[in-house]
Amino acid sequence: MAFSLKHAILPALVTLVVSSNAMASTKAYRGKILDFLDDPSAKPVLEENYRYYEDGALVVTDGIVEWMGPYSELQNNISSNVRVINYGDKLIMPGFIDTHIHYPQTEMIGAYGEQLLQWLNTYTFPAERQFEDPAHASKWSEIFVDELLRNGTTSALVFGTVHPQSVDALFESANKYSMRMIAGKVMMDRNAPDYLLDTPETSYQESKQLIEKWHGKDRLLYAVTPRFAPTSSPEQLTAAGKLLAEYPSVYMHTHLSENKGEIEWVKFLFPENSGYLDVYDSFNLTGPRSIFAHSIHLSDDEWSVMSETQSTIAFCPTSNLFLGSGLFKLDTAKENNVRVGMGTDVGAGTSFSMFETLNEAYKIMQLQGSKFSALEGFYLATLGGAKSLSLDDKIGNFEVGKEADFIVIDAKATNIQKLRNENSKNYLEQLFVLMMLGDDRNIYATYVDGRRVYSRKHANFKQGLKNFVNR
Ligand code: GUN
Ligand code: ZN
Repeated sequence: MAFSLKHAILPALVTLVVSSNAMASTKAYRGKILDFLDDPSAKPVLEENYRYYEDGALVVTDGIVEWMGPYSELQNNISSNVRVINYGDKLIMPGFIDTHIHYPQTEMIGAYGEQLLQWLNTYTFPAERQFEDPAHASKWSEIFVDELLRNGTTSALVFGTVHPQSVDALFESANKYSMRMIAGKVMMDRNAPDYLLDTPETSYQESKQLIEKWHGKDRLLYAVTPRFAPTSSPEQLTAAGKLLAEYPSVYMHTHLSENKGEIEWVKFLFPENSGYLDVYDSFNLTGPRSIFAHSIHLSDDEWSVMSETQSTIAFCPTSNLFLGSGLFKLDTAKENNVRVGMGTDVGAGTSFSMFETLNEAYKIMQLQGSKFSALEGFYLATLGGAKSLSLDDKIGNFEVGKEADFIVIDAKATNIQKLRNENSKNYLEQLFVLMMLGDDRNIYATYVDGRRVYSRKHANFKQGLKNFVNR
């Protein structure tokens, strides 16, 4: 891309003036700014792991981050034809990254009274059946994408249903906004209702066609998606491994060790394997682009395999509490150098909001006698998520050359937030209060690929493409 050449030659601020004179469209966004360069919970805590400016500026040209720093440095160097959008005391952060979510479960979020296996049979499978109808899939994918953007989530790793048309619908909706989205068709050939089953052969062929159609198109990427070990035969898991071997840049996305009954069932179904993760490992489904949702009840050996294979985990606090699944061991993941991102896991997760998800993560850590700071939370929701999806060269922070997905946060959206914010000693306390009290009301604007795609001010009108403004 042109920008990388420019940046290789020119100092950042000179570049700004140059690009603003050319045909390119440059805008500067002024406000408080926070982003991360690395995990702020790494010991010793290094200030260099994050950047916070009380009065900062983010400069974007044609959907790419051109510069970020204190506004005072920009002020005298910016060409007069660069428009400055002043967000005042609002907080600009990279867009949130949801590393595990099911879009077809949007319509049955918050279903009462069951743990995982009963919940799947009672609520989930009947809801997913409806996605055979492309019109239904299209309707719910639009609702889903709108809901992500309303919550400041600009990228997600998403489960479809067994129907390939469910994935077509989702990618079409996401691509209207140029979102960086990863998704896949569920592979599931046993232990589910007949109406939702594919076969090893059809799941292979349909996944292959979807990969050819969508993987690498614009900002979209594909994930081979066996639902979880109990619903795939060994033949189907072999087919999933074959797809990964044929397309090394696609992802693998599944569930692992979420519920104790589920783990016992896997042992019964795969007696030859030493445990749940060993099933996936033996079919070559582990690796740096493999994301395992939950991973709550891993043994020491399984942690070693996660680490050795560089597989990653989606930590889904609201879901883990809602289904009574257990407490995720984030500290053990860190000790084993296993990458972790945050997942909402809607519809077992009870919120699309990353604030509410981090709030529950904090409580899960409290119950285990551990700390979870706001810096760690917002790191996991942004750069940590990007790293766990191997997308940190493209998204997750405001390094020059990254794709400009960002959000504008109003930390004082409610009366109590305003009072509590003003009653905070410093910005770290304000960030913690935001993490604990925040929800969708705090998202003031969402930008994807340098364009505003959601604005709270206009939220009473039908949101969507109407809210697109020129770069
Ligand atoms: N395990 C297998 N399928 C699912 C699902 O849809 N949601 C959750 N939370 N766990 C699963
Ligand atoms: Zn899930």
